[in-house]
Amino acid sequence: MQLCQLTRTALSLCVGCAAIIGAFERSSYADDQGNADVVVMNFDGDDYGDWKVEGTAFGQAPARGTLPGQMNVSGFKGAGLVNSFVGGDDSTGRLTSPSFEICRPYINFLIGGGGHPGLSFELLVDGKVVRSAAGPNVQPGGSEALDWSTWDVSEFQGCRGVLRVVDDAKGGWGHINVDEITLSAKKRAGISFAREMKVTARYLLLPIKSSGEQEPWVRIEVDGETVREFFASLAFNDQKMEDSDFNACVDMTPYLDKTCKVIVEKMDEDADLAPFVFTDKLYGGAPSYDEKYRPQFHFSPRFGWTNDPNGLVFYNGRYHLFFQHNPFGVHWGNMTWGHATSDDLMTWVEEGDELYPDPLGTIFSGSAAVDVNNTTGFQTDPNGLPPLVLMYTYNGPSMRYGNPASQALAYSLDDGKTFTKYEGNPTLPHVIGGNRDPKIFWYEPTKRWITALYLDGEDYALFESEDLKSWNELCRIEKLGCSECPDIFELPVDGDETNKLWVFWGGNGKYLLGKFDGKTFERVSEPLDAKWGGNDYAAQSYSDTPGRRIQFSWMQGGAYPGMPFNQQFTVPRELTLRTCADGVRLCINPVAEVAQIREKEVDLQVADTANGRVWSPREGVSSDYDLLDVEATIKVGNAEKFELELRGQKYEFDVASKTVKYGEVVAPLPVVDGVVTLRIVLDRASIELFLNAGESQIAACFVSQDENDAPILRTSGAIDASARVWTTRKTMKQPE
Ligand code: FRU
Repeated sequence: MQLCQLTRTALSLCVGCAAIIGAFERSSYADDQGNADVVVMNFDGDDYGDWKVEGTAFGQAPARGTLPGQMNVSGFKGAGLVNSFVGGDDSTGRLTSPSFEICRPYINFLIGGGGHPGLSFELLVDGKVVRSAAGPNVQPGGSEALDWSTWDVSEFQGCRGVLRVVDDAKGGWGHINVDEITLSAKKRAGISFAREMKVTARYLLLPIKSSGEQEPWVRIEVDGETVREFFASLAFNDQKMEDSDFNACVDMTPYLDKTCKVIVEKMDEDADLAPFVFTDKLYGGAPSYDEKYRPQFHFSPRFGWTNDPNGLVFYNGRYHLFFQHNPFGVHWGNMTWGHATSDDLMTWVEEGDELYPDPLGTIFSGSAAVDVNNTTGFQTDPNGLPPLVLMYTYNGPSMRYGNPASQALAYSLDDGKTFTKYEGNPTLPHVIGGNRDPKIFWYEPTKRWITALYLDGEDYALFESEDLKSWNELCRIEKLGCSECPDIFELPVDGDETNKLWVFWGGNGKYLLGKFDGKTFERVSEPLDAKWGGNDYAAQSYSDTPGRRIQFSWMQGGAYPGMPFNQQFTVPRELTLRTCADGVRLCINPVAEVAQIREKEVDLQVADTANGRVWSPREGVSSDYDLLDVEATIKVGNAEKFELELRGQKYEFDVASKTVKYGEVVAPLPVVDGVVTLRIVLDRASIELFLNAGESQIAACFVSQDENDAPILRTSGAIDASARVWTTRKTMKQPE
């Protein structure tokens, strides 16, 4: 309060001071006395206005978001922001505001970028720096997200101040980002909302109105300890229930009968959240799986986002499918392992989330295996089942505790009903970069566990372990031509058990053929392709399915407008090695179980029209048929090109160049003795084509049109095609 005696007397107090600060805007945000927010600067204009620019770091105008060479900048409001990465981290400069009247008790602003000395956002009064702030990042990695910060400037109310952004720093994180500077009667940061409740049932339902933008941090405390924490936009009281995207479901079973406290950080002071409810049924038993764009025989999570399939394992008679899950939004984030089980690989029952993030990290991808010999020692009951073990990645950097990415274990001793994280985690400490996605298997000849691990760039490694708890690196598999999500397995060539090869697989379906002796992987092929685009990424194969190698893949990139879920998986596919025209190749074909969900064969009439050959149902109209399984044989004859359409989804075949095209995706077209054999499965939002029993394939998503009366099947030109078409069942099991 020593400062600014002179100026204070010279100025009237600024109730309704928008007139004084001509360039400033007012927002509708007001306190009880009607003191609206005054936006000092939002950096949405084409230049910095009256602000003075020195040096090069700030450019001549506000940035429009991410600058070249920068990680994705998020969390700013409107069109622009201050981003001193102009010219990279080494540029320096200053940006100074004209003087303005401090007419509210708080200054709220968004800030991000580096936190090194030489970087600051400052408030000066009487030429002295009285407040200063910087970004959160001081080491490699981190995030370019801006976040709210608040200065209490009540002691300077009525004084004039100047704002200054300083970038005197060079090198990594040598830049600072600022936006949306607002004088306010209310704090934007540091406010949290808390509600205490008794845990009266297994699941806590939280209504979500997800914006996909930067979301508040929510923590659930029990006995003063944080037991769940995540980003989520919880719905407000004045939002109608139907406005909320869905009810997120948090498993609180371990805390039954205790009192929990839900704390939402960085809320507006007067936020009024919608009620939270406890229930014993997953998602309160909400019926689902029948929405407009909901896949009917492909797996998709009932609510929230999914990406990679994880922890695929056959255990005690059931298939387990874990999946990367954001339980709190339909966008990527809060990575948690969701869980579903099936008796037949097609009919899935969701079991709820199993692995929640904790201070070591969010739960990224990984795999599972049955520890038949109890090498982990997790099973202490001699009559108990062998442990079901999950090995997953802790992505430390996506939590706020500063841990690097590492690998860890969890296990179940009760037939996969509940899972316990191993107390000695992490088991495979950080190696390099964002190392992740362990894929484990038991290698009998050396009696060791092996894990494939993605390291960095296009490089992977293999590690071995006796007990899954401590690991030695064996070898590196470098320059695969892709990244993430390795898989490794051995398969007979053409079904010959005496002639086997190993397959090393990476995230986008590049694979190597090779030999593995328990120590090194010797490649015998260049990187080959098992997919050629489409919606098909991060596939993983099942553990513990002797005699068959079964794979699920994430149909990355599909769109499901307005749905309470996001993304789906392919049908389960069997992998085989076959000798094809160019040598031994990995073939991908639907597992036999897919044909078992056929309901009835469609009675078709075939007509040759000017438009080609058209197959129509004798019963009903073609729009009654949206879930289909098709087998067709096409005698190519002299045709150079022809088309095939299934319910309006078009494939263009080019016999001369031996390619097949769906939209922008172009895959090889195997023609054997003048014949193309194909299988297509069609669901509400996806279509998968398999050629010559999986020698080539395209998995693709589409958004179905409201009016679709396209014929069941149409082929163009004078080609000789025959087809059989079946309707299929809906397989996602409704909650009890
Ligand atoms: C692949 C991937 C993995 C990672 C996971 C995170 O899609 O990026 O590498 O573990 O997704 O959700």
